[in-house]
Amino acid sequence: MNQKRDSFSDKFGVIAAAAGSAIGLGNIWRFPYVLGENGGGAFLLIYLFFIVAIGVPVMLSELLIGRRAQRSVFGAFKILAPGLKFFKVVGVMGVSAAFLILSFYAVVAGWTVEYTMLAVGNQLVDKTPVELSDMFADFSSSVWRPILYLLVFMAMTAGIVIGGVKNGIEKYTKVLMPILFVIILVLCVNALLLDGAVEGLSFLFQPDFSKINGIVVLEALGQAFFSLSIGMGIIATYGSYIQKKENLLNTAISVSVADTLIAVLAGVAIFPAVFAFGIQPDAGPGLVFVTLPNIFNQMFGGYFFAIAFFVLLLIAALTSSVSLLEVVVAYITEEIHLSRQKATLLATVMVTFLGVFCVIYPFLFDSFDYVTSNFMLPISGILISVFVGWIIGKQHTKEELEAHGGSVKIVGVLIVILKIVAPFAIALVFMKNLGLLDL
Ligand code: PHE
Repeated sequence: MNQKRDSFSDKFGVIAAAAGSAIGLGNIWRFPYVLGENGGGAFLLIYLFFIVAIGVPVMLSELLIGRRAQRSVFGAFKILAPGLKFFKVVGVMGVSAAFLILSFYAVVAGWTVEYTMLAVGNQLVDKTPVELSDMFADFSSSVWRPILYLLVFMAMTAGIVIGGVKNGIEKYTKVLMPILFVIILVLCVNALLLDGAVEGLSFLFQPDFSKINGIVVLEALGQAFFSLSIGMGIIATYGSYIQKKENLLNTAISVSVADTLIAVLAGVAIFPAVFAFGIQPDAGPGLVFVTLPNIFNQMFGGYFFAIAFFVLLLIAALTSSVSLLEVVVAYITEEIHLSRQKATLLATVMVTFLGVFCVIYPFLFDSFDYVTSNFMLPISGILISVFVGWIIGKQHTKEELEAHGGSVKIVGVLIVILKIVAPFAIALVFMKNLGLLDL
């Protein structure tokens, strides 16, 4: 029964695949727009705190669960704690969240396809900031083109997932991730040459503590989960493909650092332009699309950089959507025993269908976005922490970490975080937002 699992071939493959899942529209589209809506620097500070205090430990827990059990997230809980049926909830919530996220994620990815075409057709040039905003508003509120691009994007995602782990996911991410990083750096340099650079950077980096309230904290927490791809079993599923010799703590830290770096760099590229071109920082989900074309219009070689940027964004989106679809496919193949091809087809059709509804009804798009990140993922986060901290406990954790020279101290700190800090911190944020706590 125990088939040998497909596995990533080396360390770089693991990190590239996990980073490929983490780095995506979440960093370049969602992070700047959510930060812009939630007051700037103060949000960034809380976000960074959550990445370190909760994100890295939860990511490590997922990797550990997956590798220990050698199963995707569904089978994993069954194997590690056979008597505790309750933890099935994590898998079920994970698949549901992956479903909902992919349905709106693919819509935004479709926007990047549209913008790639516009860039290639040289249609973003010589437009005023207002014209660019109108253009985005017209496009995103229309129906047919966004649906068409949604279909195109889902077909690309399905194509990669059908290939399986080694032939599909790993091959693409290994090459594409480093390219992504370089292009963002070039954009940052150009943004820093703009007139709005100082204002943009102080919006991003200077915390205004009066802006902090329960919602800002909740959004920062949700963004941390969304951006790291945690709380959904994705990282656990990848963990099950990681060989025993790899160091999980290093993997979790490298992926989180890379992910955070890209998000902050995206902020550095976007906010100077927001202020230089008189765009509102809280312009919402269209922020990246209405802001960056203004930079391309001004910079040397803007035509080529615009194309490079949107292609890059598309690639980043693709490596993330592949991981989202992979969770659903893993579920269908392992629990319902369909072939990989059939499972991929089925999942793709269902997600695309839901995506079409997200295009037609923007409130669905917004609510899926809000509820998945801010509630579903952190709730799973509590369960994952509790599972590793309290249930499978120190012995497993030690064995997984100390094998690679992880110190006793680190294991101790990790266990305290997972047992107490992470679950309580997340619960407090929820209670505050539900009005149960008057802080
Ligand atoms: N982390 C991805 C991004 O930043 C999105 C994602 C969320 C992917 C959840 C998988 C799971 O774009």
